[in-house]
Amino acid sequence: MNAPGTPLLSVENLTVRYRLGRSMSGRAKTFTAVKDVSFTIGAGRTLGLVGESGSGKSSIGRAVLRLSPISQGRIVFDGQDIDAFGRRTPLSFHRDVQVVFQDPLSSLNPRQTIADTLGQALTRHRPLSRAERDRETGEALDRVGLAPHHADRYPHELSGGQRQRVAIARALATRPRLIVCDEPVSALDVSTQSQVINLLQELQRDLGVSYLFIAHDLEVVRHMSDEIAVLSLGELVESGPAAQVYDSPAHPYTRTLLASTLIADPARQAARTAQRRALRAESTAAAAAAGGGAQKHP
Ligand SMILES: Nc1ncnc2c1ncn2[C@@H]1O[C@H](COP(=O)(O)OP(=O)(O)OP(=O)(O)O)[C@@H](O)[C@H]1O
Ligand SMILES: [Mg+2]
Repeated sequence: MNAPGTPLLSVENLTVRYRLGRSMSGRAKTFTAVKDVSFTIGAGRTLGLVGESGSGKSSIGRAVLRLSPISQGRIVFDGQDIDAFGRRTPLSFHRDVQVVFQDPLSSLNPRQTIADTLGQALTRHRPLSRAERDRETGEALDRVGLAPHHADRYPHELSGGQRQRVAIARALATRPRLIVCDEPVSALDVSTQSQVINLLQELQRDLGVSYLFIAHDLEVVRHMSDEIAVLSLGELVESGPAAQVYDSPAHPYTRTLLASTLIADPARQAARTAQRRALRAESTAAAAAAGGGAQKHP
């Protein structure tokens, strides 16, 4: 357990450098995707990571998952330097840190039913009897708002939003403390986006999980995040509480990023207003449901 006040995740002066083979002269070529980036995420909190395409967002998310090289700096999870694990990632880390990607169709096994996918995730770190496994699979589906009959479906037989709910249920199966969400709603239409976002928030309230939430949609990030970190060309240009970064951005790049979302195109502007309304309506409904004693996840 963490000492009070200690962040769950601490990214300290992280540099991610990729090897690109060798030049003609035989020297190793590298590309620096992330340079000297620092931020922390507290337990039960959300940090939103924004920045243009190629700015290094996924590289940071992957470094936290031990999938990208930590070339310089440190990543400390729950007091442990994750680079010090060496080649073998401890099971406890796999359990504690999970991921939800943008495209659930490519991250779910097309030949497995939803029950098999969730059952496998549930039993990976804990021995469960057949009956316990079936019961927990049912609970996992219910927790993300899916019906029992979805258990026997294959991923291609579900909608995009339903598939993403399965991916979230699978991530939750190990009872993680941190989930790296890399553009989890970018592939969904606006109304489905707000449902999935609100599901993530509800799960956070109930389970106390933390999110590293990566997205290029600033409206979605603002709705989700306690803190925001703004990346440009691999470097952190600004970070702080969400309201502060949005309402009084200190860096010109952040202002440009924000301005580019206040688009001149009336159709996109209308879509954005609809999205904002949908997000608000969903949260109000969720809050009402929680207040009304309809607590689904004791
Ligand atoms: N395995 C790799 N080898 C070499 N370069 C890479 C590798 N992965 C990413 N890069 C480069 O690192 C930079 C950052 O990529 P990254 O995927 O982290 O960006 P991103 O902010 O997630 O972008 P997007 O919004 O498009 O997903 C890009 O220039 C990319 O080409
Ligand atoms: Mg990315």
